[in-house]
Amino acid sequence: MQVKGPVTRFIAPVAHVEGHIAVPGDKSVSHRALLIGALADGETHVSGFGRSGDTESTMNAVRALGATVDELDVDTLVVHGVGVRGLRAPDRPIDCGNAGTLARLVTGLLAFQDGAFELTGDDSLSRRPMERVAGPLREMGAQIETIDGHLPMRITGGALTGLQYEMPVASAQVKSAILLAGLGAAEPVTVIEPAPTRDHTELMLGAAGAKVRVRGLSVTVEAPERLRLPEVHVPGDISSAAPYLVAAALLPGSKLMVHDIGLNPRRTGLLDVLERMGVRVGIHNRRKIAGELIGDVEVEAQPLVATTIEPHEVPLLVDELPIFGLLAACARGKSVVKGAEELRHKESNRIETAVAALQAIGVRARETEDGFTVTGVPTRPRGGRIHARGDHRIAMLGAVAGIVSKDGVRVEDAECVSISFPGFYSLLESVSVQ
Ligand code: S3P
Repeated sequence: MQVKGPVTRFIAPVAHVEGHIAVPGDKSVSHRALLIGALADGETHVSGFGRSGDTESTMNAVRALGATVDELDVDTLVVHGVGVRGLRAPDRPIDCGNAGTLARLVTGLLAFQDGAFELTGDDSLSRRPMERVAGPLREMGAQIETIDGHLPMRITGGALTGLQYEMPVASAQVKSAILLAGLGAAEPVTVIEPAPTRDHTELMLGAAGAKVRVRGLSVTVEAPERLRLPEVHVPGDISSAAPYLVAAALLPGSKLMVHDIGLNPRRTGLLDVLERMGVRVGIHNRRKIAGELIGDVEVEAQPLVATTIEPHEVPLLVDELPIFGLLAACARGKSVVKGAEELRHKESNRIETAVAALQAIGVRARETEDGFTVTGVPTRPRGGRIHARGDHRIAMLGAVAGIVSKDGVRVEDAECVSISFPGFYSLLESVSVQ
């Protein structure tokens, strides 16, 4: 998918939002369906695939590594796996684009394949830390070279030993990279997390027949003889639903239902926070498909009160923290985000870019070392100009800020939303009522 160059969009205020919508498939699950499907024996049928700039980077990567991917439809794929140790080294670098999840997870897989691999990425990804993955994998015997801890990265596949690793940061990407490396290690690997992070890798590896043991914050994976993953149903992405849920929470008179979204408890921090702030959140039609919880989420606007996000909650809504800043801007009182220094290592430094975006529309927001504070006023923010800085989540914050503002918001670099959600603006327009 072509991610278009910088484009400015003016987002005008609307009266409220209403309707029934669905959002594209979960990005985290879509990446994993491609990567684990590529290592399985036989076919993996993927329905509800979340097509975006990031997941297309992963599709291109698994193809370059020798797996075939049939695109039956925009969101329906068949991955023809090559077996756990069957990836082959392409004769050129694998371009991870903007996708941190791809770069981190594929490193774990490549560490035990036959051959030498090089990973590259765009400017943003090339600034993000890779040593957090390379370090523990080297302890397993992997040969990995980074440039000062960054991409481009060279991986020479070889024999791996087991590992027991206590993670210094709560990161699902780091955990997943190590667990995936465990698929090719001589002994089991165990990862111990400082706080629970999303567990899609563990769930999917279990569904594919790998031996996965979870005890509290510790996850162990043993190398399987083979994986089989006949089917993956990807739930709607709660992180893509978040901007719409926040818009509905902020605009009085709104009532919005987002259907079929993933409700994995490691991802639903925003729903708890919305309720805590006074929003009415209804969950309907809750069910489990292939280990993942799914349901329809309904939000009705109510007056909001400020809240504090504690460090242990951060991984449960890590990608929703920028848009949380907008909720906080319209909530009575001072909101605080603590223990979120990881935000500095996302597609942009999100403590800096989220606070700058909020300040640009007249909100009293301030950076702290490990998060930010927002002093809210229960009224529409003024509006202004927000630069997305190439970060899709900041562009989405800008767009929702536009519809809930008094004067509208000009979003610079607006098209970077295609990294996770190419149809974002048209869906926003479809729920907007003048
Ligand atoms: C992801 C994990 C999160 C999240 C990212 C996707 C994943 O990162 O921010 O967008 O798919 O594992 P960390 O858990 O590394 O913080």
